[in-house]
Amino acid sequence: MVGSSIAFLCASNSLDDVVLLNRTKSKAIGEAMDISNVISQTSNFTVRGTDDYQEISQAKVIVITASTGVYLKNRTEIISAQVEMIKDIAKKIKTYCMSPIVLVISNPVDVLTYFFQKETGMSRNSVIGIASSLDSQRFRYIISKNIGVKNTHITDAWVFGEHGDSMVPIFSKTKIKGKNLIEKINSKQKEEITKEVRNYWRTLRKFKTRSQFGIAKNTFDVIKSIIKNQTISTPASVLLEGEFGQNEVCMGVPVKISSSGITEIQSMELNSSEQDLFQKSAHTIRNYIDSVY
Ligand SMILES: NC(=O)c1ccc[n+]([C@@H]2O[C@H](COP(=O)([O-])OP(=O)(O)OC[C@H]3O[C@@H](n4cnc5c(N)ncnc54)[C@H](OP(=O)(O)O)[C@@H]3O)[C@@H](O)[C@H]2O)c1
Repeated sequence: MVGSSIAFLCASNSLDDVVLLNRTKSKAIGEAMDISNVISQTSNFTVRGTDDYQEISQAKVIVITASTGVYLKNRTEIISAQVEMIKDIAKKIKTYCMSPIVLVISNPVDVLTYFFQKETGMSRNSVIGIASSLDSQRFRYIISKNIGVKNTHITDAWVFGEHGDSMVPIFSKTKIKGKNLIEKINSKQKEEITKEVRNYWRTLRKFKTRSQFGIAKNTFDVIKSIIKNQTISTPASVLLEGEFGQNEVCMGVPVKISSSGITEIQSMELNSSEQDLFQKSAHTIRNYIDSVY
């Protein structure tokens, strides 16, 4: 459902032609037929469904949302099957596609972004894991709810690191009406917010089997920045080569994205406890990577 939710936003906003590719062709065709009905009278863009990678050979952006199953307690529960799947998809994209920018959504997103980049050998700027922007959105939502401030008054609420239990909400940069959030909350509130952000998906699962709309909007924003060449500043997962003191790991960091993919990994000074948590998060992701190598 994540894939078709993203396609729905692209089609309803007349962004570009959309091809839905699924191993079960009939499902791709059905979703495409349904989504086609949102195309406005002023748009000549199309939506079609297929199981044939040749049909996406010219794609400017490819979004990967495939998933071999559902995890219940931890995003890494089905890690081996997911890594096998992403390697298979990577081989096909490498064979059939020209020079796409690839957005990895499937979980565990940091690990799969890493394996996709390694399998294809594509530039790290063209392989982007989308998740930290969703975590940041959740962070802002929880601050707004718990502290009782308007969403619009909260700025720079970033979450970096793993899209998982070791994610790092960056309290030191978050502002409320331009003032530092950290001066308005105590350590207990900080702990509660952190726990709530990390467990957001588990809480959501008590009411709905999976999330789809938040990630769809965040992914749509990135696709739009690429298609329209409008620079977006957002946290996303990318292979680090020394930035933030990390190597050989993909994890959420602040980046700038436009038509050529990631144009800049932004530097940002974190406080010592955030640096420590960021390092632990890198270590956690690297352990997952090593566990399936
Ligand atoms: N990054 C984020 O922040 C974020 C947020 C939400 C969800 N997600 C992730 O997004 C992924 C998709 O979630 P969803 O709810 O959309 O799942 P879904 O509705 O179950 O869709 C998964 C799709 O993957 C296909 N698939 C299954 N096994 C495959 C394989 N071996 N090779 C290729 N395709 C295969 C399925 O095809 P068939 O129809 O043929 O079975 C199905 O269409 C999950 O990994 C989820 O954790 C990430």
